Amino acid sequence: MESISKGLEDVNIKWTKLTTIDGEKGILRYSGYQIEDIINAGALAEEIQYLFLNGELPNRSQLDLFREKIEAGYDVPDYVLNAITNLPRSSDVVALQMNAIAALAATEPFKWDKATNRDYAAKLIGQMASITATGIRHVLGKEPVKLKSSDSLARSFLSAVFDSEPSERAVAALNTALILYLDHEVPASTTAGLVVVSTMADMYSGVAGALAALKGPLHGGAAEAAAMQFKEIGSPDMVESWFKENIDSGKKRLMGFGHRVYKTYDPRAKIFKSIAENIGLTGEAKNLYEIATKLEKLGVNKFGPRGIYPNTDFYSGIVYMALGFPLQNNIYTALFALSRVTGWTAHFIEYVEEQHRLIRPRAVYVGPQERKYIPLQERK
Ligand code: SDX
Repeated sequence: MESISKGLEDVNIKWTKLTTIDGEKGILRYSGYQIEDIINAGALAEEIQYLFLNGELPNRSQLDLFREKIEAGYDVPDYVLNAITNLPRSSDVVALQMNAIAALAATEPFKWDKATNRDYAAKLIGQMASITATGIRHVLGKEPVKLKSSDSLARSFLSAVFDSEPSERAVAALNTALILYLDHEVPASTTAGLVVVSTMADMYSGVAGALAALKGPLHGGAAEAAAMQFKEIGSPDMVESWFKENIDSGKKRLMGFGHRVYKTYDPRAKIFKSIAENIGLTGEAKNLYEIATKLEKLGVNKFGPRGIYPNTDFYSGIVYMALGFPLQNNIYTALFALSRVTGWTAHFIEYVEEQHRLIRPRAVYVGPQERKYIPLQERK
């Protein structure tokens, strides 16, 4: 049979100047900048969003103008927020995001045009922030919200979700999370979105397709699924028996572990872990962290020799919990999407503007050979 690359493993579908990953060495670079350097320099997430959409880091006036474009997106039309509030409060927040983005696909006058693609992408960051804040508040029984202007997306977002002025430590932690999840080359969600925009469908439809793929537990859904596993274990002294019962038996996968590209520690997992160590965990977040660190040791011991290590989703949920986001309704995956919307649109723009081709693979036929049609009345 002709060869099939299962799961498109190691198939290159585009070239990119955005993100590069060295899976063997555990290296992640955004347009040449090492992720650790960006985080240690205390970069504002909006600087990196600008980098992805414009190819260079902004100077002060470029950053200020870019942030104005993002903040113009905060004021999403009420019909977009109604696409969220019309659904039950038991909804999955990523599905709420999909619904609201579909409302933008239905109404925004978008056309692919080099002169305006980046402005739409910048505005979409702001729209996604108000959509995500409203989606989270909706499942928590609160009224819709539109973000208000401040000195950062992280601060505006936390203020909108929690109706209060966030601590500097919380703003810094969310800002870092927005950078860590911003892009990762062409994972399933980006690829899904690229297939959509390769037909010249609009940017919002591409994001809706990417959200649909991100939602699954093997991809972005792992951010929630990993924390759910820690919660299921319940306490650090239950880790070993749970591991034996569920992982050694092969019954379950260890969520937040393993990666199609990384065959060593995901550098983002290390950074999320260090945020969790230093953010001042208390209560449930502290308990889950103690479970996670014990689980990590067992997981690395068992799977490390096969190149299966913690990925970005292993510790991120604990950081989100420490920031006050409850573990429910796939909120943690929705926060992943809030950040990744920039990576998605940057890849869409790079593809449509510079290397566009309709994405249309083939399938190897293994069904019945040619045969005659037998009319119904003659069939036994
Ligand atoms: C993200 O691609 C990206 O860049 C994604 C991402 C991004 O930023 O966009 O990095 C974000 O999605 C991270 C991954 C989050 N997903 C999870 O944490 C879910 C658990 N992980 C696995 O399901 C798995 O590791 C995948 C899906 C992430 C990768 O899987 P592959 O490359 O398709 O590998 P596979 O499923 O074919 O597994 C190969 C072997 C299998 O064993 P065998 O059947 O050959 O005996 O490794 C085993 C698997 O059972 N394995 C695991 C495992 N991961 C792989 N066994 C137990 N627990 C795991 N987590």
